[in-house]
Amino acid sequence: MKNPNFLIIDSGVGGLSIWQEIQQLIPNSHTCYVADNGAYPYGTLEEQVLVQRLLQLLPELERQYQPDIIVIACNTASTVVLDPLRAQTNTPVIGVVPAIKPAAACSQSKQVTLLATPGTIQRRYIDRLIEDFGNGCRFLRIGSNQLVHEAEQKIRGKPVNRAIIHEVLAPLQDSHTDVLILGCTHFPILLQEIRAAIPAHIRILDSGAAIARRAQQLLIDLPPAEGKTRLPGNLFLFTAETEQAHLLEAGIKHFGFDKIRFFAPNATQFEQKSGAT
Ligand code: DGL
Repeated sequence: MKNPNFLIIDSGVGGLSIWQEIQQLIPNSHTCYVADNGAYPYGTLEEQVLVQRLLQLLPELERQYQPDIIVIACNTASTVVLDPLRAQTNTPVIGVVPAIKPAAACSQSKQVTLLATPGTIQRRYIDRLIEDFGNGCRFLRIGSNQLVHEAEQKIRGKPVNRAIIHEVLAPLQDSHTDVLILGCTHFPILLQEIRAAIPAHIRILDSGAAIARRAQQLLIDLPPAEGKTRLPGNLFLFTAETEQAHLLEAGIKHFGFDKIRFFAPNATQFEQKSGAT
């Protein structure tokens, strides 16, 4: 396929860590990246609210942009929405979930830490991943929204609050952890700061490269995109026009997006009060 089109969605800029891996592996791809800032942060939403939001929003985006592949570039969402979403679309959907299996496979101390949003760490989906692939390891689960916020701030060009990172990661220090899973797509954006806050021997894993490989594999069997709407380049959409979103624009352009737009979802009446950024 000449320019495979991706629709990548997250609550904010976290999915850019996934987009970068896809760009690197499939440089001819064109992406419509959706930051659903109208419902940010996903990590504090009730499961049902989040599922409903995405099941309403995605068909609208799909109709408009006709992607070849949809990537739910968010662990918080992927751990609850993949099955119902796949049931309502024929477009291949790739989800991002914490790298439990590779982490458990390479831990020597048999103590792994999962750093994710408060939503993700309490999901049944995670319990099942650990039951199936935990390889006898103990898992310390740390949930943080503050780090999601810090990643957004970093893309706004604001200084990252390193004291918060140290505080959030403090429980890991005495835990004998030798593998840390970044189970939120926002966290690779803070990789440098997280690295500096933990002992050097701890290995850090995220799911980005595996997602890009999966996308590349799926493209092999995709039918030609004849008659479909095509993106001329990379487009970045916000679902709410806010001051905080405008403050992200320079950082997003720096990542390589040609166009930034504000997309007002029609079908989606988002009623739960959210901290839209
Ligand atoms: N980036 C999302 C994830 O991977 C979460 C961000 C949020 O809480 O809005 O879980």
